[in-house]
Amino acid sequence: MRRLLVTGGAGFIGSNFVHHVIENTDDQVTVLDKLTYAGNRASIAGLPDDRVTFVKGDIADADLVDDVFGGVDAVVHYAAESHNDNSLNDPRPFLDTNIIGTYTLLEAARRHGTRFHHISTDEVYGDLELDDPERFTESTPYNPSSPYSSTKAGSDLLVRAWVRSFGVQATISNCSNNYGPYQHVEKFIPRQITNVLRGIRPKLYGAGENVRDWIHADDHSSAVLSILDHGVVGQTYLIGADGEMNNKNVVELILSLMGRRADDYDHVTDRTGHDLRYAIDSTKLRTELGWQPAYSDFTAGLAATIEWYRAHEGWWSPAKDATEAFYSSLGQ
Ligand code: NAD
Ligand code: DAU
Repeated sequence: MRRLLVTGGAGFIGSNFVHHVIENTDDQVTVLDKLTYAGNRASIAGLPDDRVTFVKGDIADADLVDDVFGGVDAVVHYAAESHNDNSLNDPRPFLDTNIIGTYTLLEAARRHGTRFHHISTDEVYGDLELDDPERFTESTPYNPSSPYSSTKAGSDLLVRAWVRSFGVQATISNCSNNYGPYQHVEKFIPRQITNVLRGIRPKLYGAGENVRDWIHADDHSSAVLSILDHGVVGQTYLIGADGEMNNKNVVELILSLMGRRADDYDHVTDRTGHDLRYAIDSTKLRTELGWQPAYSDFTAGLAATIEWYRAHEGWWSPAKDATEAFYSSLGQ
């Protein structure tokens, strides 16, 4: 039994991880989350009080961070500003949380000697051509495109420096696009599902040729547990489930699964600097740590996600109007 500190545990992937840990281990969890617009306590409601403790606060608050590190065996660091479109509109919170917040946690890990796992993204590697036979590996050079991905790249480099310079016991993972329950309606898949549920036509940026490499959030969680249990300190592991699909095909699949005509969507203004394609080669994680994804059927995983949003309107509905108002101000 470990005591885990999970930053950003009220967000999409962090809350899925907290559920996964409670269901699959004996570990205790403390969640540290600022509850920004993206955090929602309801995402971790109903979990046993004797195993999950919630602390509301900022990862950039050094005194608070020092307090919550006390008695913790390992930290899993999910907290971030996570949305590319927001980073194009107002980059500052991305610097504060993704860079200064990560720095603050690393300094605490250094003082307390705490094992640290840093959650990052495949976006640090930039993008690939549609016909490139190569996929991202742990040795692909960093080449981030957006304010979001550049701050994530910066945070990864801080972790590497704190390992080498100060001996912090850290690992890093870079994962591809997640889908599943508890994802904010600003993101592509939940936005389109909830649009259809609200009678709004789905919105595709540009021509929709951009490819993302989809993985279920629960598979991301099992991979992170494998790294915590068996990963080698100082190493980076790429997490992916061979789920490449272009955005047009994803929208068409959502519409078909929801009983609508597959062409019942709008093309809207493209994202500035829009990365064309992400694709992960997760051979290292699979061969060295023996990890395998459980969700191999994207259509089935997407159908289950649609059912989750259908059944949880009370969870997503409060954020929907403001999200759509923001997008409409951008022509998206
Ligand atoms: P999210 O936006 O859904 O959740 C982020 C959480 O962090 C929220 O609960 C928010 O309240 C909290 N938070 C933000 N700033 C904070 C601060 N200063 N102090 C404390 N808490 C704060 O994000 P997500 O999609 O769940 O992403 C989680 C992590 O996974 C991020 O580090 C992201 O870069 C990474 N990641 C995401 C994906 C994806 O597909 N969504 C893929 C790979 C990696
Ligand atoms: O690759 C991992 C990354 O995946 C994470 O690091 C990020 O935190 C996460 O947000 C996600 O980034 P993307 O920018 O790929 O995700 P998003 O859901 O914003 O968009 C997915 C694709 O869909 C992208 O090509 C843009 C497009 N899109 C998005 C929205 C919101 C649309 O076509 N229409 C939309 O309405």
